[in-house]
Amino acid sequence: MRLTIRDIQKLQAAGEPIPMLTAYDATSAHLGEAAGVPMLLVGDSLGMVIQGHDSTLPVKLEHIIYHTQIVSRVTQRALIVADMPFMTYNASIEQALVSAGRLMQEGGAQAVKLEGGEYMGPTIKAIVQAGIPVMAHIGLTPQGVNQFGGFRVQGREIASARQLLRDADAVQEAGAFAVVLELVAAPLAQMITERLDIPTIGIGSGPHCDGQVQVFHDLLGLFPTFGPRHSRQYADAGAAMQTALAQYVEDVKARRFPTMEQAFTMKEEVLAAVQADGTGNHASS
Ligand code: KIV
Repeated sequence: MRLTIRDIQKLQAAGEPIPMLTAYDATSAHLGEAAGVPMLLVGDSLGMVIQGHDSTLPVKLEHIIYHTQIVSRVTQRALIVADMPFMTYNASIEQALVSAGRLMQEGGAQAVKLEGGEYMGPTIKAIVQAGIPVMAHIGLTPQGVNQFGGFRVQGREIASARQLLRDADAVQEAGAFAVVLELVAAPLAQMITERLDIPTIGIGSGPHCDGQVQVFHDLLGLFPTFGPRHSRQYADAGAAMQTALAQYVEDVKARRFPTMEQAFTMKEEVLAAVQADGTGNHASS
């Protein structure tokens, strides 16, 4: 049975921290679920870690649908949240409803996530009223990187801290079932967590949120040259994979791989028959 948004809220009510992880393909989804992650995010961070862009802006709705289909196909228990890409919900409430509907119907998600606070209230409300659970995302919202002028910690000044409190109140009021707090100064994230009834899911927002979301590739060290300060590298999988692949290349070049251990044999008489005529043209059995 898949977990529901109620199960996630029950974890919060029981004071149990909620781990969330991005998943984009069968491998990451399977590994995340097997590790016990209750909520998987098909994040538009796939624009960077899968597609090789330097921001999330080029990601299209079709891409998230495609990856959500994969993640939902190979998982049984985790609640799957599909990210709404840049400009698939910003033009109008109608556009947002159509996009969210496609992520649920075609992708197989159980919830959608969208970026934006107070000004997104009416959009969140409309999507929730259509029966689609919404995870809000406030603080540093990467789709607005050009407006922010970079990836900066949010809420460090009086005006921006007050705006973040209004954003948090507004998304809860609009019906969001949870809210991601990205790069929010830790004391403010704590204040928001204590203020809201819905779970806060932090990333770069300190230890006081109800849950935590991290990017699969960051946790496993799949980009050895890049590790955001807010993450923790639990494995050096990128380096281990690089060493393994270099060994494979060496083994093929030195004819150490493959050996007959990785090969398949055939019946002696079949081989003898083919060898006898030499062409393969007369084989009748
Ligand atoms: O796309 C993503 O991975 C995200 C998380 C970082 C919250 O939005």
